[in-house]
Amino acid sequence: MAIETAVDPMLSNASGPRAGDVIVTDNLWKTYEMGDQQVNALRGVNLRIRHNEYVAIMGPSGSGKSTLMNLIGCLDSPSQGKYWLNGHDVSELNDDELARIRNKEIGFVFQTFNLLARATSLHNVELPLIYNGTPAAARIERAKSVLESVGLAERMMHKPNELSGGQRQRVAIARALVNKPSIILADEPTGNLDSKTGDEIMALFDDLHAQGNTIVLVTHEPDIAEFAHRVVTIRDGVIASDHISSRISNKG
Ligand SMILES: Nc1ncnc2c1ncn2[C@@H]1O[C@H](COP(=O)(O)OP(=O)(O)O)[C@@H](O)[C@H]1O
Ligand SMILES: [Mg+2]
Repeated sequence: MAIETAVDPMLSNASGPRAGDVIVTDNLWKTYEMGDQQVNALRGVNLRIRHNEYVAIMGPSGSGKSTLMNLIGCLDSPSQGKYWLNGHDVSELNDDELARIRNKEIGFVFQTFNLLARATSLHNVELPLIYNGTPAAARIERAKSVLESVGLAERMMHKPNELSGGQRQRVAIARALVNKPSIILADEPTGNLDSKTGDEIMALFDDLHAQGNTIVLVTHEPDIAEFAHRVVTIRDGVIASDHISSRISNKG
């Protein structure tokens, strides 16, 4: 796990990152230009997520959840404000630099799995390692071991259409893990699954959390958010509430 947090002492002010912080945003804005209209999808988000936290992000449709995930995941840059990932200011990096950081630090899991239809589970999981130039033998060994860890040892040579929805999402989770990212970001990962399969996937996230991963999960299902330890609600592009989940607070 890439858990070391490089902290520039010059940045260790109230709003900047401290030791152990994985994600820190300071007054993050995202404005989309739509012809002559401007949409303020995020309007000053301040969020701090520490190593090995398990956070659910909730909020109504259009509130800015996916926009925030895209910024946290280095898929896009903010219009204003700062974002530190593992202590590094990434808010002003160009697209190539963002892509490099993303491949190393972030594992994405999507509602629609986003697997290559014609490729086996093994090849789907190997892909991020091809992009970063890992030699073939090491790549295959690593991909196999991650697939085993998500319970798919028997399904390595199957293609997505030969797998159930839950198995496809396990392949996608294995792909997200293969580079040993510092954060796993999941946008509605159970949205296309029945509730039993969804619970199995959430049990897998529990395991990943127990192994020391940092997890940020977007959901609009309260049952799913209950798996997380902290629930952040966003409304109209700002954080409306941020609290410890009842799963933790009820433990007493
Ligand atoms: N690429 C885009 N161009 C223009 N507007 C966008 C774009 N992406 C999102 N928006 C707008 O930004 C707001 C937040 O969207 P989004 O982050 O997708 O919300 P959520 O994921 O919570 O449903 C919405 O008003 C949406 O229409
Ligand atoms: Mg969304």
